[in-house]
Amino acid sequence: IAETSHQQTWLGKKVLITAGPTFEDLDPVRFIGNRSSGQMGFAIAAAAAQKGAEVTLIAGPVNLDTPTGVTRINVRSAMQMFSQVQAHYASVDIMIGAAAVADYRLAQPSSHKIKKQPNQDELTLTLIKNPDIIAWVAQQVDKPYVVGFAAETQQLADYARQKRLQKGLDMICANQVGDGQGFEVDENALLVMTATDEVALPKQAKYSLAVALLAQLRKQLDITKG
Ligand code: CTP
Ligand code: CA
Repeated sequence: IAETSHQQTWLGKKVLITAGPTFEDLDPVRFIGNRSSGQMGFAIAAAAAQKGAEVTLIAGPVNLDTPTGVTRINVRSAMQMFSQVQAHYASVDIMIGAAAVADYRLAQPSSHKIKKQPNQDELTLTLIKNPDIIAWVAQQVDKPYVVGFAAETQQLADYARQKRLQKGLDMICANQVGDGQGFEVDENALLVMTATDEVALPKQAKYSLAVALLAQLRKQLDITKG
């Protein structure tokens, strides 16, 4: 009975999730990317849809199947992800930023393949900062409940706590990366932090971690909404 009533609480809830890396093109054949596999965001999307939520997944370039019942929008760059988020954030209850968004993009991508210069041993690329997608959502008056991620190689809790405050997020999920943890692996652990609570979710398969995270999120929504 408890499980049934818990499941019902996700019915009709609209969730927007970003996942995967973004690729920033240098020219038609090269890009700057990162090691995000997209697995965590896709696991959250799958688990939320399975519980009855209406899920829209904005996915960067990843090699993953669309989870059952999930509406997927594919993007490549951070700017493309940003415009899709801008188009969708106002109609959802919860936004979860699981994407590893590139912090910078090429100031001037080349429309033709950049040629190697015989007498040039160094190449300097000028990058400009991408908009912070999740911080932008958190600033809107009609904002949903906003959940971010913080992948850190050191001082996990401190950096994540700061990130939550600086970006104005309702919740942040901190995960340790590097040394075979976090990226490109099947298991993960998360420290889930809100203004009032900090809960450690132990290392487990990403799908079961997603289920545990959704349970925490559900609790917080009840608290927030009274
Ligand atoms: N994020 C975002 N848009 C960006 C950069 C990050 O929406 N341009 C989101 C990520 O999806 C994640 C959270 O912000 O939910 C934290 O991302 P992270 O890279 O850890 O934070 P940054 O603020 O970029 O700080 P840094 O990379 O310097 O640690
Ligand atoms: Ca970053």
